[in-house]
Formats: sequence, C-alpha cells, structure tokens
Amino acid sequence: MVAEQAAQVLVASNRGPVSHTVREDGSLDAKRGGGGLVSGLSAIGPDAGALWVCAALGDGDREAVRRLGTRLDPAETAGQHVRMLDIDPGVFSAAYNGIANSVLWFVHHLLYQTPLEPSFDTEFRTQWAAYEAYNAAFADALAEEAAEGAAVLVQDYHLCLVPGMLRRRRPDLRIGHFSHTPWAPVDYFRLLPDDIARQLLRGILGADRAGFLTQRWADAFAACTTAVLDGQVDTTDGSADAVTCEGRTTRLGVHGLGADADFLRERSHRPDVVERMAALREQIGGRERRVIVRVDRTELSKNIVRGLHAYRHLLTDHPEWRGLVVHVAFAYPSRQDLAVYRDYTDEVQRVAGEINAEFGTDAWQPVLLHVKDDFARSLAAYRIADVALVNPIRDGMNLVAKEIPVVSDEGCALVLSREAGAYAELGEEALVVNPYDVTGTAEALRQALTMAPGERAERTKRLAAAATSLPPQKWFLDQLNALGG
Ligand code: F6P
Repeated sequence: MVAEQAAQVLVASNRGPVSHTVREDGSLDAKRGGGGLVSGLSAIGPDAGALWVCAALGDGDREAVRRLGTRLDPAETAGQHVRMLDIDPGVFSAAYNGIANSVLWFVHHLLYQTPLEPSFDTEFRTQWAAYEAYNAAFADALAEEAAEGAAVLVQDYHLCLVPGMLRRRRPDLRIGHFSHTPWAPVDYFRLLPDDIARQLLRGILGADRAGFLTQRWADAFAACTTAVLDGQVDTTDGSADAVTCEGRTTRLGVHGLGADADFLRERSHRPDVVERMAALREQIGGRERRVIVRVDRTELSKNIVRGLHAYRHLLTDHPEWRGLVVHVAFAYPSRQDLAVYRDYTDEVQRVAGEINAEFGTDAWQPVLLHVKDDFARSLAAYRIADVALVNPIRDGMNLVAKEIPVVSDEGCALVLSREAGAYAELGEEALVVNPYDVTGTAEALRQALTMAPGERAERTKRLAAAATSLPPQKWFLDQLNALGG
C-alpha cells in the first residue's frame, strides 16, 4: 500500500540525519548529524516532498520512535522528513555489526588477515539472514512511502540488497544506489561465498544506476559483475559506464563528493574554533614548531598506527626535527561494539604513548592525541596545520584530505595515500604515499615539513579548488537528475 502523502524523492541510509539519547531526567536529546548527504539533500528544499528512511541505531533512537512514532519531527531533523525504522535490535546488530561492518567493510577495504579470516560458517549464515531481513525492512518502508515513479537513492554497503528487493516490490520507481566505500578488486571480492557475492551484485544491479566516488571503484564493481555474474560491461574511453546482466542494464556513474566550502569557511571562523586554536597552540608550545595534523575516526582502514610509526621514523632518522614538530592526531571513537575496533583504539593510544615516552621532554610533547570527538577542535587543527597526514589503507574518498586545504590559514602540505579515493582529484598537488610503506611515509612527512611556504600556499590553493569542485548539493542533484524524471 502506498502512503497517503507519498514522497517524490527518497533517500535510504543506515545512519540517518539525527540520533537520540535519553537524558538522565528521561527526556530525549536529538543530535543532528552533518556530512555530505545531509547538506546534499538540503539542496532540494523542505517542500520537495523528500523523505529520508533510516534505521534506529540504538536505545535512544528506539525510544524516540516509541514516543514520537516512526515519522520524526522535522524541527529536530534540520527540516527533513525522516522515517526511522525500529528494526529488532538482534537483527539490526547482526546486519550492521556482523555483516556490514565485519564482512562487507572488510572486503572493500582489504582488511582481513587472511591466514585466519574470513571463515564463513553457520554464524555467518545466521547473520546473513539478518542482513536480508534488515534490507527487506528498508525495501518495505520505501515501497510504502514512494509516490508513483518516485526517485529513490539508496546509500552504501549496508543496503546492497535494497535496490533489487525494491524493484520487485515497485517496478515503477527510479532507483539509484551509491557506494561511499571503495569497491573490492575481483580476487578479494571472491573471498565471499559465491552465492553471497551473486546476491550482493544482483541487489545493486536492481538499481537503474549505481554510483561510486571514483572511476576506480566503478571499474572494480564492473569487473566483479563480469567475474561473478558474467555481466557485459560497456566502456567509454576505457572506463566502465554500464553493466548488462541477466537481461537488465544498470548504468554506472561517478560522483566524487567534494568539500562544502561555504559551510567550512564560515564554521571555521566562529569563536569556538578560534578559542580551540589558542588552546591547541598552547599545547603545541612555541609558535615556531611545525604541526602535522591528522583527523580520523578510529577506523581500521585509516592506518593511524602506521602513520604514528612513520612519525617515529622521522624523529629517529632526522633528530634535527625533535622539539621542532608536533603531531596532532585526533582519533575519534568508531564502532566500539566490535572488539577489533576497541583493540585498534588501544593500539593507537599505546603507540602514541610510546613515542611520547621515547622522545618527549619537559618542554615538548611529540604527539598530541585526542580521542574525544570535537568538530570545532578539528577545524582549529585544520586551520593551523603545516602538514596533513591522510594515509588510509583504502578509502572511498576521504573528506579530511579535501577539507584541510579549504580551511587552512597559511597553506598546508598534504601527504596522501594513493589508495584514498581523493587521490584521483588531489594526487597531483599532494605528496603521495603507499600506505604500507612506513619509511616512505616518513620521507614524505620530511619533504612536507621542508616545503617552501610559497609552494605550500600555491599547492593548497590548487588543492582547495579541486576539493570543492563538486559540493554536496551538486553531488546530490547530479545523481537525482541522472535518474531522470
Ligand atoms: O565513510 C564511508 C561510510 O560508508 C559512510 O558513508 C558512512 O556514513 C560510514 O562509512 C558508516 O559509518 P558508521 O558505521 O559509523 O555509520
């Protein structure tokens, strides 16, 4: 049954634009989320009949749904209409933690230690059934809410099965899927059991259009469809732009989400950021000290530990830098339900502590590690950074690499992994590293620290221009327009 006030444009993602916690006094606290999707969707305005379907992520969200109903109050969601799905917590956890974050994320970011993992056993099959149920809950809600011929933009690896499921329920809809992650190379994707690999690809191929952040990820997806499903790939100038499989054609699109320059420039000059700049300067000590900044969620793919080892190499091999440089590392908690993430967080803290113990003096702390998420402080660090270290093992895009040049006060040299999606647009102006090469990264840090201020400023200007060429609003509208009307 289609809802009475059916939506013309729908977005579906696991994490929605708002999250709730229950305060001690029992009242609900709604925290708005940021990010590209939130500002992208705002481009079509509050009257466009758009609806965002997302999952309740925790007890606070579930309580909000119980009290307020599944349709949230637009006053609490930056004006967006949101339907929050209260999926059974066990099903949600198996789908989100078990499959999305422990299998699909690992496959696309090449994170397994393959002598021992993965091992697809009966527990995996149970979790997979939950992933199917969770995807079906989204497909049901979208089918119910969408107006005739509406456009539905399904996001990410959590919801790979939704396009296919939704097409079966509502063949009239225009369906897009967008991957915010990399896509695995064929041999790695084929670690998955064959039936699961087929199901995932068929799920996405249920869309009219599958979007990716870079051509590299689109090509990898296309190669997987050929290897696993015998899909026929159309190319233009060697780049995959459509896949025909089992009688249907799915177009491929590349939309390299950029930084939101207007928002960032305004936000980074507010008093709370200026205050934090002063506090950071004090912790760094000495205005002449150079600052290497990294800001990440403590995410296995971000390669924070090797980044710290590279910094240690720099201090070991180039003692002239001791006392003259500080590594400001913000590593914000992520996915702490997973033991492997908790262990990784501990390892980041351990290595940072080791470097401080080995090299620190009364007047100099070589690493300033902060783990409490503070957006204003991140912006403060962006503004004062001399060097930005962005060295992921693999990353869909990496917006930090794009945000720092936009916000930087005096220019910042970018040390960038060639495995980040952002490399496609920023590689020419960055010092590019192989993320596994610790000594190579140390050398790139040294070069970045010694880059002449004029060159650094010029490169930063060019980085900022490239980083902002596709702002979130345009990124979103391009995808919507490409789905046709
Ligand atoms: O950064 C890639 C990404 O897939 C985002 O699109 C998404 O918001 C995030 O990862 C998922 O992270 P979390 O598990 O914290 O919601």
